Amino acid sequence: MLMKWFNDKRAALIIMVVAMGMALVVPPSTTAGDIPTDPATLKRLVQEAHNKFKDMKEGKPADYIPELAKVPADLFGVAIVTAKGEIYTAGDVDYAFTIQSVSKPFTAAQVMQEQGSEAIMDKIGVEPTGQKFNSILATQVIPQVSVNPLVNSGAIAAVSMVKAKTADERFNKILDFEDRLSGAKLKVIEDVYKSEAATNQRNRAHGYILFASERIYSDPMEAVDVYTKQCSIGVTAKQLAVMGATLANDGVNPVTKERVIDARYVPKVLALMMMAGFYNESGKWAFTAGLPAKTGVGGGIVAVVPGKMAIVGFSPRVNDAGNSVRSAKAIEYIAEQLGANVFGSGH
Ligand code: DON
Repeated sequence: MLMKWFNDKRAALIIMVVAMGMALVVPPSTTAGDIPTDPATLKRLVQEAHNKFKDMKEGKPADYIPELAKVPADLFGVAIVTAKGEIYTAGDVDYAFTIQSVSKPFTAAQVMQEQGSEAIMDKIGVEPTGQKFNSILATQVIPQVSVNPLVNSGAIAAVSMVKAKTADERFNKILDFEDRLSGAKLKVIEDVYKSEAATNQRNRAHGYILFASERIYSDPMEAVDVYTKQCSIGVTAKQLAVMGATLANDGVNPVTKERVIDARYVPKVLALMMMAGFYNESGKWAFTAGLPAKTGVGGGIVAVVPGKMAIVGFSPRVNDAGNSVRSAKAIEYIAEQLGANVFGSGH
């Protein structure tokens, strides 16, 4: 009897020790390794990144959407939101700018929520192009036509897949999803929406090419219009960092605690961001920063350190690829200092 009690206890103890040992040596599969996340370090790094690049003038605000050229070019904000919901900021982090293409991975996530990740593979595609975000050529040489959900063509296709009976219902579902991701009540910046709607002939061409190829799933011009509105949603750097932190936190908004995206879709979203988030600069970005990220011509960039945090930059001056020069620099600096590269810290 005594022996049996002893053996049971010992077995339980061995199991506990082994389990504890495993917990000590095996990091959870979703974390990016052991990087500092203490308040002093993160507070210092956002400030340092802001100071280091605040005088940088490279690039210029996008002007193919006329209203975007009016955004003050010197605005610059840096924000980190951790997977625990702590917020660290420097500079213009409360200025609402248009989310533009940074919205694309989130709509892809919404489509996965409704229809599963296979639907993205089958009905859009997941291959990077090495071409610009609005490349017509890419849609002609890549058999899927829509290419992937992060270029304009695939993003328009993704919008067309959001289940709705009317354009308003489709847009409101997208806006509501972004509200839940950001924990805020976001709204369209109407002047930018009107300006893009009047000048988006190239995106309409994408809509018709998709239509002719049977790769769009609603009325094509309706999809282009809802997509244009989606791109015109205003976010601040801080709100965008909460959206990114929701991805870092396996789909649960760390501030509101609401689960917005199923955990199983988060790696899919991050994979898309890694492969195509910077368009024709995705290779360079992977090579230098090594983080899944998404850029927008409004000047925002969100990068995700899986399991840990989102790092956001906002600065309207973009380069030829449509990527914000200073935002990329600030994120790259913070990622390097933290050793946050998902391929290894290199430290
Ligand atoms: O469709 C467009 O051209 C814009 N609404 C979005 C493009 C964009 O943000 C490209 N990213 N850097």
